[in-house]
Amino acid sequence: MNILGIETSCDETAAAVVVDGFSVRANVVSSQIAQHALFGGVVPELAAREHLKSIQTVTDAALKESGCSLDNIDAVAVTSAPGLIPALLVGVSYAKGIAVARHLPLVGVNHFIAHIYGAFMDHAEVLRNPSFFPILALVVSGGHTALVLIQKDGGTKIIGTTLDDAAGEAFDKAAKILNLGYPGGPLIDRLARQGDAKTVVFPRGLSAHSPGRAPKEENRFNFSFSGLKTALWYHVSGKDFTDSELKDVIASYQAAIVDVLVEKTMDAAAEYNAGIVVACGGVACNSSLRETLEKSFSQSQRQLIIAPPNYCTDNAAMVAGVAYHYLLKNKPVNQDLPVHARLNYDLEYVPFAPGASSEL
Ligand code: KG4
Ligand code: ZN
Repeated sequence: MNILGIETSCDETAAAVVVDGFSVRANVVSSQIAQHALFGGVVPELAAREHLKSIQTVTDAALKESGCSLDNIDAVAVTSAPGLIPALLVGVSYAKGIAVARHLPLVGVNHFIAHIYGAFMDHAEVLRNPSFFPILALVVSGGHTALVLIQKDGGTKIIGTTLDDAAGEAFDKAAKILNLGYPGGPLIDRLARQGDAKTVVFPRGLSAHSPGRAPKEENRFNFSFSGLKTALWYHVSGKDFTDSELKDVIASYQAAIVDVLVEKTMDAAAEYNAGIVVACGGVACNSSLRETLEKSFSQSQRQLIIAPPNYCTDNAAMVAGVAYHYLLKNKPVNQDLPVHARLNYDLEYVPFAPGASSEL
């Protein structure tokens, strides 16, 4: 089954053609970073206009690269939640247009679920094997930070989430405070490699491993990054740093984020006896997070899958991939597809677990 995927939830216009859920024939992403960098963050209205400008070109490029024309496409998949409403509307309207004109099924996909699926694009075998379940997913992006448990029947449970900023926001806002540019994650990642992470002891929000400061039980797997951001602000405001001192501050700041993400992922994996742990979303591109997760899991019994960088950041292959499983499971398709800004729309189950019902 050839599925055309469309993604416009934030600041990447993306289209992909994926065959049978896993075989990626084309995965085209056009970034709007340059336009939003002027404002230090994503401007929803501007994002929508930029999507409108490039969606046709990006889709044409994906079709061409895949060797398909619309005549060979069997279904259209599109991110319909969560995201910036004006941005989502462009992708959904465009996808509806193709679906209606071509009499194709239109499948709305939750972006958060698509990020999780990004970790399985190269690991179809895991999704066929019930013994790997429950799977624990660490989803870390610009909009979300959560630990999600996925059962073999596809049922999902968010066991922890952020109480304030997402991990990606913690990177982006720090870069803003330090005048590094936008988006902050990749810039901080690069500069932190040249600094000493032990120089400044930044707070580890809600860490169960901070002596005498254990979080309440209900926050054991929750995250909080706003205190860290404030601590950075107090640490740097009104002071001059040499380049080398600044790199030490940046490395120390990044370590505070990475430590908490890894610690809570390890603890949750043990608590829920996860068969496999996956890490996904834009922040999962972070080199220190990847290395620290790999090192920590190499000493445990559990298998770790970190999504490859091109499936961590926003893309449409993960969207087309999820839609394949919805179609296999006979989910009713809806040409009136609405958009939703909120995370929890259609999040109760994932269609790609081995025991997911055949009648979703
Ligand atoms: O998943 P994504 O592309 O979009 C959302 O759904 O939000 O994630 C974007 C986020 C941004 O906050 C960006 O700064 C962060 O991912 N990011 C990184 C890195 N690459 C992207 N954060 C830390 N280190 C990176 N290398
Ligand atoms: Zn995303």
